[in-house]
Amino acid sequence: MSPLTVGIVGTGIFARESHLPAYQALPESFQVVAAFNRTKSKAEAFAEDAGIAKDKVYDSLDEILADESISMVDALLPVQFNAQTVEKCIAAKKPVILEKPIAATIAEARKLVQLANSTTLPIAIAENWLYLNAADAMKEHLADIGPVVSFTYNSTGAFVKHNKYLATTWRQKPEHIGGFLSDGGVHQLALLTEVLGEVDSVSAFTKQVREQSGTDDVVFSTMKMKESDLIGTFTYGSAFGSCEKSIYFKVYGLNGAVTLNLSDKKNPFITKTVGDSAEANGDVQTIPIEEHPSFGIQEEFLNFHEAVVKKEKRIIRGSPTVAFHHLACVAAFLESSANNGSNVVVEQP
Ligand SMILES: NC(=O)c1ccc[n+]([C@@H]2O[C@H](COP(=O)([O-])OP(=O)(O)OC[C@H]3O[C@@H](n4cnc5c(N)ncnc54)[C@H](OP(=O)(O)O)[C@@H]3O)[C@@H](O)[C@H]2O)c1
Repeated sequence: MSPLTVGIVGTGIFARESHLPAYQALPESFQVVAAFNRTKSKAEAFAEDAGIAKDKVYDSLDEILADESISMVDALLPVQFNAQTVEKCIAAKKPVILEKPIAATIAEARKLVQLANSTTLPIAIAENWLYLNAADAMKEHLADIGPVVSFTYNSTGAFVKHNKYLATTWRQKPEHIGGFLSDGGVHQLALLTEVLGEVDSVSAFTKQVREQSGTDDVVFSTMKMKESDLIGTFTYGSAFGSCEKSIYFKVYGLNGAVTLNLSDKKNPFITKTVGDSAEANGDVQTIPIEEHPSFGIQEEFLNFHEAVVKKEKRIIRGSPTVAFHHLACVAAFLESSANNGSNVVVEQP
């Protein structure tokens, strides 16, 4: 079968450093054949790296959509453009995968979900953390610790002054709710909810620690999950002074505990203790987890490829409905914090 031909829209940092290498590593499934970027010189440089013909460096999304040789679009834009991009792709009958978070606001995210529901075309949100082996490994090990009772998820780190992402103007003046809380926070919420199911309600405080973040950049919250009366905490932010970077996700059960440690993304591992009490004195087992160097991106692309080839949008793991929930959690944090930490039910699409 011939590979899907991809038109890239937005040839910025992530397109260049992550999406292009992932496509190039999957030549039997994808061929990047066209590009459009607001600043054309960047699309031209991208085209050279990608081996795209000069006449396929376009001046607009419309030109990409009019090119019948392109079988799918990959959009890596500031996310306030996601909903309008989907609308145009549907009109042109082109499947599209768009970078996370789903949209800049809940209203736009809802519109995008409705657009996706109105068509049989595959529409995906590229939430690569949904495809991590860590999620499946956590689910497997949770089976050993009895009914799960509660959890704590902590993703925190020091502020990085010379962060290439912070240098992008659309992040400095974010139109997307919560700025970095939605930009990076949705990844953590994707992993959390992939393992434990959807969040029912939150009570949260958010605050802005760094002026450069443009808006609130840390959240400390408590959560109630939809399933089984599970309760837990979720903490996110990389705006602090010097501190160890940590991403850990600990789930407590009646018969033990499982902790995922993703602090070093190249060497993630799980620790597990089984036993019903302190007296059970369970040994701590350490289980390494293998993650692909693309950190879920190749898997997400292959999932989208299958959906396009089979014309079966229901197999997409990062569907707009799934990604809506991640952004809706961020919206709930912000609303709760604005109301002095009162409990807020997470909105449905
Ligand atoms: N999954 C992940 O781990 C991950 C990591 C990083 C980023 N991302 C996502 O990838 C996307 C791109 O992020 P990035 O870090 O690559 O940012 P970036 O380098 O700023 O890329 C954004 C691209 O959008 C274009 N753009 C900006 N404003 C525009 C406008 N008003 N109209 C049309 N085009 C515009 C830019 O064009 P110019 O060249 O003209 O500025 C640029 O090429 C975002 O959705 C982000 O959330 C995902």
